Amino acid sequence: MPGRDDDRPRPVSGETDTEVELPRESPGVAMPASSRIRYRSIVSAPQAVVAGALDVDTIAALLDSHAQVGGVRLRIVFPDGRVFFEAYPPHPREGEEHQVPVEIPGNAGTRLQGALPARDLELVAHIIENAVRQRTSSGVQLQALDAERKRLSLVFDFSEKVCQLAAFEEVVTRFLGDVTHMLDAREGTFFALDPRRKDLYVRCHHGLRPDVVRGFRLQIGEGIAGAVARDGRPRIVNDVEHCPDYVAKTNPIRNIIAAPIIVRNRLIGVINVNDREDGDKPFSNRDLQLLVSLARLGGVALDNARLYEEIRQLLVATIESLTTAIDAKDQFALGHSRRVAYLAVVMAQRLRLEDQERDMLRIAALLHDIGNLAISESILKKQGPLTDEERAVIKEHPALGASILSPVQQLSEVLPGIVDHHERYDGRGYPRHLKGEEILQQGRIIALADTFDAMTHDRSFRKACAAQDALSEITSQAGTQFDPALVPTFVDTYRELGLEITDVQDLLPPPPPELDF
Ligand SMILES: [Fe+2]
Repeated sequence: MPGRDDDRPRPVSGETDTEVELPRESPGVAMPASSRIRYRSIVSAPQAVVAGALDVDTIAALLDSHAQVGGVRLRIVFPDGRVFFEAYPPHPREGEEHQVPVEIPGNAGTRLQGALPARDLELVAHIIENAVRQRTSSGVQLQALDAERKRLSLVFDFSEKVCQLAAFEEVVTRFLGDVTHMLDAREGTFFALDPRRKDLYVRCHHGLRPDVVRGFRLQIGEGIAGAVARDGRPRIVNDVEHCPDYVAKTNPIRNIIAAPIIVRNRLIGVINVNDREDGDKPFSNRDLQLLVSLARLGGVALDNARLYEEIRQLLVATIESLTTAIDAKDQFALGHSRRVAYLAVVMAQRLRLEDQERDMLRIAALLHDIGNLAISESILKKQGPLTDEERAVIKEHPALGASILSPVQQLSEVLPGIVDHHERYDGRGYPRHLKGEEILQQGRIIALADTFDAMTHDRSFRKACAAQDALSEITSQAGTQFDPALVPTFVDTYRELGLEITDVQDLLPPPPPELDF
């Protein structure tokens, strides 16, 4: 008999060892440090078996509750022969019921051995078996609950993260990566609906080689993603090879789960995830529910991003139009605002300004002379020197520019660059006569770029000078007209770019991507 110890008490006369098998898997049944416990007292104990607490104390309590007669000799033996529980009564009493072997069906492995009156042994074994089963069942339930908790946590995190993102591409990329990760899958694809061609194309992918998906398109109804787009319903296909809808256009895959992304009753695309990391584990209905939930959340986030992008593009287009209008006021200023903006942005990069600061600087530089829109062209385009009165009018353009833009709350951060771009570091500028650091950095940077561009291009009242001469002049004005800390940065920036900028348009950042829905 496995685990039998030589020093254990001798069996009581009439006892018969009985083995009762318990389930092999008994999670939570820990082996105590001492593998043998003398169990002599027969006292009342809690009746309830606490799920997940089937340890030696629980079993002892169970036996206390139900082994109400003498002749108890029980052992619980693990498959490797270790014994972790023994119970012996002090001595059988006269006239007690004889011990009878009892067989309780169960899995091979861990066994309950004992000699008890049949009814008690059966009862005890049954209780322990049920306790083990309950523990196992509870363990499964707890695991399922834990998995569900993790999923909900991921969904919550996802919804928070994705809704904080504003840029469309960033939302799409994050969305797909998170969904693929949550479903323990290897690959994910966001098929966007092309409203012009009425088909699906790969807008974003995760875990796939770019060359695999480049140019990949599906007609509505073609393939599993196409079928999902056509039907507007999610699908699980765990046996792709035998699915008639499957179209093998990319890597061979085993299983797919796909859901439509619908925003305000319009299909905008399909999210498609395939190949579980655990190859033997198919996608489940729970996975599908999760994907559908994420697709809904993703749809809202994508729609928000689309609206944001539309507004941003509208703003960019408005600024571009205004820039053209500003430069058109002066025939000699053609392209001036864009060149100033370009130089300012390159400086911002060299100064490692934050993206937001750099974007605001660019807008401020593009619009720095917007006040000229309120000034007569007869003054702006006048050939020859200006009168004192005309010069005074010209000097109003920074303040006029600020007053034009100040009602636009979204552009409040660009006002310093517009108001202050004619201030001087020594305080002798205009309109507010600010000095040193009183002039915000945006204004100090634009002042450098504006002056350099003005010097290196023809004006109505003078000819352009060479870039090197302009740089020398600017350097000589460090600490008087210009911020001495910024002048070297500007000179280095310009030298890095090259001595002539003939086509600034080519150097400007690319336009934002076109929106497809
Ligand atoms: Fe100006």
